[in-house]
Amino acid sequence: MREFERIDDHMVIGGLRAVDLAEEYGTPVYVTDESAVRDNYRAIYGAFSRRMPTRINYACKANTNLAILRILEQEGSCIDAVSIGEVEACMRAGFSSDRILYTGVNVSNHELAALVNRNITINIDSLSELERLAEITSGAAVSFRMNPEVGAGYHEKVVTGARSTKFGVPKDRILDAYSRAVELGFRPVGLHAHIGAGVQVIEPFTRVTDVLVSVAQELESKLGIRLDFIDIGGGIGIPYRPEEGPMDLELLAEEVTSRVINGTSARQVAVEPGRYIIADTTVLLTTVVDLKETPDKWFAGVDAGFNTLVRPAFYGSYHHVAVANKFGLPGDVAYDVVGPICESGDHLAKERSLPRLEEGDLLAVYDAGAYGFSMSSQYNMRPKCREVLVRNGSSNLIRERESIDDLLRHDRIPSRLML
Ligand code: LLP
Repeated sequence: MREFERIDDHMVIGGLRAVDLAEEYGTPVYVTDESAVRDNYRAIYGAFSRRMPTRINYACKANTNLAILRILEQEGSCIDAVSIGEVEACMRAGFSSDRILYTGVNVSNHELAALVNRNITINIDSLSELERLAEITSGAAVSFRMNPEVGAGYHEKVVTGARSTKFGVPKDRILDAYSRAVELGFRPVGLHAHIGAGVQVIEPFTRVTDVLVSVAQELESKLGIRLDFIDIGGGIGIPYRPEEGPMDLELLAEEVTSRVINGTSARQVAVEPGRYIIADTTVLLTTVVDLKETPDKWFAGVDAGFNTLVRPAFYGSYHHVAVANKFGLPGDVAYDVVGPICESGDHLAKERSLPRLEEGDLLAVYDAGAYGFSMSSQYNMRPKCREVLVRNGSSNLIRERESIDDLLRHDRIPSRLML
């Protein structure tokens, strides 16, 4: 959780009062602080690159806004992309194809062909994908995503490295995959695994690095393959709750890089953070539109629901909530913060002690930069909201609010139904 400046009981983001941003852009609105994005990128790149050559592949599924991608392109980041749409967004934001590593799952032949056309290196997820890729091209550099049988994450839905998941080439087939790749004329350059998301302890990262290192050693001793990079995936957690502390990045980098340096001849380590880079850079501002006292509790009804931020409803995730125009005042009523979607699961926060609310108050939902806008939807025919970038007291609109026309643009009524 980032600390925000407070001026006269107002929350200040990037030098601007939240209420002024809400006034100018309307709510709900995602507000991202540019300096925070740059700081986070530099912190993680610095921790690893001080120890060995490092490639940060920003997992852009967390947030693909073009302005955010531009900032990271300027910082020198590379990209972890999972779809042709993400690849296209990154290329339009200025990333050259050699800075993008594609790690898809259940990838269609159509998508493989589009990737080959764009010269994107593919991190192959299965033996089937390898054979299908060989039908389209040969001679390309490839890497493999291995299922490391090391899974971790804050929720069962986001644990990806466990043996039971759909991801990666099974560990006991990984050598076969590399020898088959060589046989098919590919050039294996890397080995990858991703344990899961929102991992706040170091131990699973060291364990997965040990697995990667031992496979790299076997590749070298048994098949004579020397890899360029070992990719430990993403999943570095952040403290969403006030009582939590940040991950010790220096220790994480030390544990990982020392293993790669001592155990392999790979010249580079790759890390794929999404959340770490973008989550705490952004707040979602939402207006209290309705207050309801029921026999059981108080509901604060706001204009953002799970169409705008789905994480609380989908994963039961905690996002800290503050009242931006009563910032820092003590809480005296417990509220459930709920949105306009017609489902009782539609909540942003539960039982939060907040200063007594009035209609028109402005709430700030913290740490909304990762998997916030990117997982938002138009459910209940609600257009997606605006995104705004702030820096040193000035703001820019970085995504326009959708209109009802935008939502209806792709629907078609067959003429026979018009009679
Ligand atoms: N690399 C791979 C192969 C991944 O699948 C993911 C995330 C990442 C990197 C980045 O993980 P991060 O560093 O952001 O934790 N929607 C969920 C998170 C799902 C993550 C899926 N894969 C959420 O809102 O928490």
